[in-house]
Amino acid sequence: MAMLGLPAALAVLIITAMAAVASAAPLVTYIFGDSLTEVGNNNHLQYSLAKSNFPWYGVDYTGGRATGRFTNGRTIGDIISEKLGIPSPPPYLSLSQNDDAFLTGVNYASGGAGILNETGLYFIQRLSFDDQIRMFEKTKEVIKAKIGGVAANKHCNEAMYFIGIGSNDYVNNFLQPFLADSQQYTHDEFVELMISTLDQQFTRLYQAGARKMVFHGLGPLGCIPSQRVKSKKGQCLKQVNQWVLQFNYRVQKLLTSLNRRLPGAQLAFADTYPAVLDLIDNPHNYGFKISNTSCCNVDTSIGGLCLPNSKMCSNRREYVFWDAFHPSDAANAVLADQLFSSLFSGLHSPAPAPAPAPYH
Ligand SMILES: *[C@@H]1O[C@H](CO)[C@@H](O)[C@H](O)[C@H]1NC(C)=O
Ligand SMILES: *[C@@H]1O[C@H](CO)[C@@H](O)[C@H](O)[C@H]1NC(C)=O
Repeated sequence: MAMLGLPAALAVLIITAMAAVASAAPLVTYIFGDSLTEVGNNNHLQYSLAKSNFPWYGVDYTGGRATGRFTNGRTIGDIISEKLGIPSPPPYLSLSQNDDAFLTGVNYASGGAGILNETGLYFIQRLSFDDQIRMFEKTKEVIKAKIGGVAANKHCNEAMYFIGIGSNDYVNNFLQPFLADSQQYTHDEFVELMISTLDQQFTRLYQAGARKMVFHGLGPLGCIPSQRVKSKKGQCLKQVNQWVLQFNYRVQKLLTSLNRRLPGAQLAFADTYPAVLDLIDNPHNYGFKISNTSCCNVDTSIGGLCLPNSKMCSNRREYVFWDAFHPSDAANAVLADQLFSSLFSGLHSPAPAPAPAPYH
């Protein structure tokens, strides 16, 4: 099985986090992202077209109902929270003004959102990464009012920040030939724009107190069902995967540079690309049967979400993809497990005494 190639910095970061869990202080996480990590913010945006608050979303979630998650069950973030022994942080827009949840972790992710403000324009409403950062800045103000400035800074310095964004800048922006960005920029220019925007965004989070930040690299977007249907025989779009790899490479360089420039910053890159590609190339190795189309029989010409009148596959565990964009709960479980096993393989804690080797 391919493991996520996690840099040592990330392993150290997470192990610090695990240590925090084991000690008295519970780990606080703030989550930023798009539909891959959303847990229900868009339900609170009246005019948003990027919603999943209808069957069959959530059919395999606790209670079997749609929550605003864009999958049949849990997101990777939900599963990682389970493994860390903390509740999955609630959607920012579900919180009341003085909610104590601001102190224990918040999820700002929003389906359709991107790094760039204009990404996902046709969804009418979504929380762009800039919007999400502004909401975190407001969160910080609430925390300050609750526990004072010094403690608030310490709190924000010690929390962990998970950021997974950028897929929509491709799927719902650059790869749409009728939108301005794809006409205005070459791919090199577009990457440049995303990286310089991310540079400002990470810096803004840092100024608000974030130190331990993990950025999830993009997966092989050329292989998601909504992109495959654009090829002649349902293959992956090589050009799109090349672009994603270029973006991932540039983000890693940016994070290295930020770690040098910003004192105390611990930004890490979680490379999900190889693990997702291996799951798609070798589904049988992981107990799946189909990775080139989605479990829900979606109509990609009208968006590719799983609508209430769609037909679902008979065994949802056999499919890597739930709809034309999003992995199934079963695929998310595999990816979350790999994230954790790869962390433990890099762990240099005192090894338990080895069992005596059997003699032959
Ligand atoms: C995007 O929007 C935010 C808030 O609405 C604004 O602060 C920021 O300057 C905008 N960024 C660009 C590049 O237009
Ligand atoms: C998926 O792959 C299978 C086996 O290679 C093939 O028979 C099927 O036509 C493919 N489906 C799509 C939608 O491309």
